[in-house]
Amino acid sequence: MSFSHGPGCDLACQFAQGQSLPLDFPVGQVRRVAPARGDDGDVDETKRNVLKLLAVAGLVGAGAGGLAGGVIQYVQPPTIGISSYPRVQLIDIDGSPLTVAKVESEYNAGTPNDLIFNYPLRNEPNFLLNLFPASGTPDGTNGAENVPGGVGTHKSIVAYSAICQHLGCPAPAISYYPPGTCPKTFSNNTYPTLSFYIHCSCHGSTYDVTNSASNLTGPAVLPLPQVTLDVDASGNIYAIGEQGPPVNGHLNTLQGDYGVGSTSQLVKETPVILCSFPT
Ligand code: FES
Repeated sequence: MSFSHGPGCDLACQFAQGQSLPLDFPVGQVRRVAPARGDDGDVDETKRNVLKLLAVAGLVGAGAGGLAGGVIQYVQPPTIGISSYPRVQLIDIDGSPLTVAKVESEYNAGTPNDLIFNYPLRNEPNFLLNLFPASGTPDGTNGAENVPGGVGTHKSIVAYSAICQHLGCPAPAISYYPPGTCPKTFSNNTYPTLSFYIHCSCHGSTYDVTNSASNLTGPAVLPLPQVTLDVDASGNIYAIGEQGPPVNGHLNTLQGDYGVGSTSQLVKETPVILCSFPT
């Protein structure tokens, strides 16, 4: 989502911009609304009777089975969402089913573009990553293996939400940084030098892709939700669930838009690179 602002206008202006007419009374002054009256100053009996009828109708409706509640239900839009995590087959960029063999031949820890698929809802993007290196030993400087939740030959294929847990910047503002993208490195219990991670260019949050997208730097304090992947006997890859906190901006990961359907296709996005890390 993007907002356009006038010169010198910050994000808060988005609400003020639609208000083009000046108020005809001072801000903060409460205007008294007079009761409806006829020309002679008497209360308008027609309007009074209409109000009485509405009041009586409301009481009768409530007594007859909660008409008032029904009206409220009708006025409130139904929550859009799905009731459970679906089994969704992932489709490669070229339109063919995404298999372990394809991922391991086409993508690795050094793949420079973000591979994004939506799951379980249409407005919930996720990174698909193969953290195994194209060459060399997966020692944290060039790639990783046996990652929690990982699938494939080296258990290195994982998927994480592509919506930052701080204030919700989506990909490509939050992006996967392949090994050596920035001079900054981290360490964890498995790798003393970790040179690849997910980083958010909005305010600098950084996530450990080798450890369930846990937090390496704030300001985010929650990990990215991790999509549970599954592989069938033919090597096809499916998204079947999600672990961790709800997707940012959603009270419940399953609510907030329509489901993606039975398949979800990868798209390629150019990452935003900004080597700025809060301490
Ligand atoms: S939205 Fe990502 S760090 Fe603030």
